[in-house]
Amino acid sequence: MGTFVAAHALSLADRAALFNACYADYLVPVALDAAGLERMGVLCDIDLSASRVRVAGDTPVGFAFLGVRGARGWIGGMGVLPHRRREGHGRALMNAVLDAAAAQGLTHVQLEVLADNHRARDLYVSLGFELTRLVNVWLKPVTEARSSGLPIPGPAPAQERAFHELPAREVLARLEAEKREAAPWQREPATLRHIESELRAITFRGASPSGPFVLYRPQELNVNIVELDAGDGAVPALAALLGELADRHAGGWMRVLNLPEGHGSEAALRSAGFEIRERQSEMRLALNRRT
Ligand SMILES: CC(C)(COP(=O)(O)OP(=O)(O)OC[C@H]1O[C@@H](n2cnc3c(N)ncnc32)[C@H](O)[C@@H]1OP(=O)(O)O)[C@@H](O)C(=O)NCCC(=O)NCCS
Repeated sequence: MGTFVAAHALSLADRAALFNACYADYLVPVALDAAGLERMGVLCDIDLSASRVRVAGDTPVGFAFLGVRGARGWIGGMGVLPHRRREGHGRALMNAVLDAAAAQGLTHVQLEVLADNHRARDLYVSLGFELTRLVNVWLKPVTEARSSGLPIPGPAPAQERAFHELPAREVLARLEAEKREAAPWQREPATLRHIESELRAITFRGASPSGPFVLYRPQELNVNIVELDAGDGAVPALAALLGELADRHAGGWMRVLNLPEGHGSEAALRSAGFEIRERQSEMRLALNRRT
């Protein structure tokens, strides 16, 4: 009914084509060109030799990518071509990639699945994956700068304090040193170290080392926030930092990927005009408890 090859058996272009074809009808738009897929692989430590492609006849019909960090694995995307679903390929792929993870000595595999993706969630639950926490994608849609005169709802400038750029490496060192709730895989310090030179951080001049900050990656007009914290400051202080970033990047969107539900920065995000765009479940499987 089908065989497997390691994902590196396919060229990067063929992997990207398969990835996009499997996500063509996904609940949210997902499309990566070859360079984007390669970058995602580097950022998330995807191990192509442990990742699997399902082949039926001579044709690739699905894939499962595995990221590896220490004894932990992460499903960095999996899917089956729309016209080849419900033939058992999805389950076979998950089993193959979990076998590869176990063979490497990994103890756990984690993943995120959209709250509305019942097909995939049912598959994961049937394999023994359990919910660890809910995580949300927050988005502040494109707005004009406050200075344009348009009335943008958002935080009033909280204090007459100057903003201050921090070296990203200082914030990364703080994230690694502090005992804080672990970020989801795509925003872990291990991911951020790969893009340290692209990161920027903002705080207030004179803020304490445990003060509020926003760590982010600007992409033309858009801003991907990779970590944020009110620290020892109050919600309005963090909201003011977010408002300042919105002004600096007017005309683009701002996003926080997979913020754990109940995170201390939710009130500041709301006050700065962000809304929850996607809800996801983060799940985890202990490989000695596969079903
Ligand atoms: C999720 C997905 C990979 C399943 O692939 P598939 O080849 O159809 O899955 P299988 O035929 O092996 O079925 C495996 C299990 O998935 C679940 N499932 C799959 N399709 C389902 C459906 N239409 N309705 C309900 N459950 C479904 C069932 O639990 C099924 O087990 P069962 O056959 O014992 O009932 C496929 O639907 C897909 O590619 N979706 C788009 C991409 C995606 O959502 N990827 C996951 C990102 S987290």
